[in-house]
Amino acid sequence: MANDENLAAVVSTTQGDYRVVVARGAIEDIGTEMINAGLSGRAFLVADVAMFPTAVHRAHEALERNGFVTNVMTLELSESNKNLDTVQKIYEWLAQHRAERLDTVIAMGGGVAGDLVGFAAATWLRGVPFVQVPTSLASMVDASIGGKVAVNLPAGKNLVGAFYQPKLVLQDIDHLKTLPKREMAGGWAEAIKHGLILDANLLDTFERFPDEMQSLKGDLAVKTIRRSVQIKAEVVSADEFERGDTRVLLNYGHTVGHAIEAVSGYGKYLHGEAVAIGMMAAAGIAEKLGMLDREFVDRQRAVLQRYNLPVSVSGVTVDAIIAATKSDKKSRGGTIRWVQLEGPGKAVTRRDVPEEIVRASVAEVISKS
Ligand SMILES: NC(=O)c1ccc[n+]([C@@H]2O[C@H](COP(=O)([O-])OP(=O)(O)OC[C@H]3O[C@@H](n4cnc5c(N)ncnc54)[C@H](O)[C@@H]3O)[C@@H](O)[C@H]2O)c1
Ligand SMILES: [Zn+2]
Repeated sequence: MANDENLAAVVSTTQGDYRVVVARGAIEDIGTEMINAGLSGRAFLVADVAMFPTAVHRAHEALERNGFVTNVMTLELSESNKNLDTVQKIYEWLAQHRAERLDTVIAMGGGVAGDLVGFAAATWLRGVPFVQVPTSLASMVDASIGGKVAVNLPAGKNLVGAFYQPKLVLQDIDHLKTLPKREMAGGWAEAIKHGLILDANLLDTFERFPDEMQSLKGDLAVKTIRRSVQIKAEVVSADEFERGDTRVLLNYGHTVGHAIEAVSGYGKYLHGEAVAIGMMAAAGIAEKLGMLDREFVDRQRAVLQRYNLPVSVSGVTVDAIIAATKSDKKSRGGTIRWVQLEGPGKAVTRRDVPEEIVRASVAEVISKS
């Protein structure tokens, strides 16, 4: 039987509905959850080599216990090999084991694993059932939900991909125990962002209980991650293909954030760190437009710092950041669509932001040192 206490959300899409389960020790339920999702056949588990063998072993056992004959492959799944060569290795492995139409491919790892293994699942035999087991906080609250799968090309990030929804997303909070601290902070940036854009209560929880949250002790952290997951799931269900006005709100902080990543060279700042700085630039813009007061901007800065996130960037110029925002793929073909806050939990989009205001706000997040 499915355990509904652990259910964070049901994502509703044109490719079907699926459960997002969030709990400590959730991996023990992977077999029953897969049966519940109507899956049968064999399981092909592709795990990030960063995962401890015991964690992979537990998943393997939980699958076999429920009748899924399982093959396991571990791969180095980092941004630098999120490419077609790595996908090719998965295809060769699936071919060797004669993986069939009703067999399930499972991704276990961070966002790179989900995107890349998901792309392999979407294309093997024109698509086989796919399950996400995200193991980084960023992939839990963000990348694993919504069906975007992709790999990088030398010409750019995520240039080859598809919308391919999983049949199940299973998140085991215990997996976070081995995640490096800086990666945790990057994940908190996206989780806090969900509060900033859509849920003032969630933001409030992040502000009031930073220690409980970051130690992952007790129920509160699990419940809060579940709530953050729910927001992403609601947004995706409302605007699956990013054609409406909802999914774009998730890009809060991302216009300047992506520019910071590009200008500093990918790798200097983690994505979540760049987004934290980008959210400070966005809040500065909103303040100058009279949408937010200074007090709220300070409040946002304080919560980000409390979760070990940077709020300023060094080694870049205003000109370089402005140039990069203009070439960001999301803004191509027109003016930049800025996501702005009108208050806690209230995000809107604006296209009419004068460049002087953007420049002044970007200058404020560049530190001189
Ligand atoms: N599909 C989407 O909607 C979407 C959204 C946001 C980001 N993304 C993609 O996600 C990727 C970033 O994801 P990420 O931040 O999870 O990075 P990641 O997958 O690179 O994982 C971060 C690091 O943590 C390691 N790791 C993961 N889980 C671990 C664990 N439990 N214990 C120890 N180490 C662990 C990984 O090996 C890696 O070194 C990018 O490629 C980005 O394009 C996709
Ligand atoms: Zn992001």
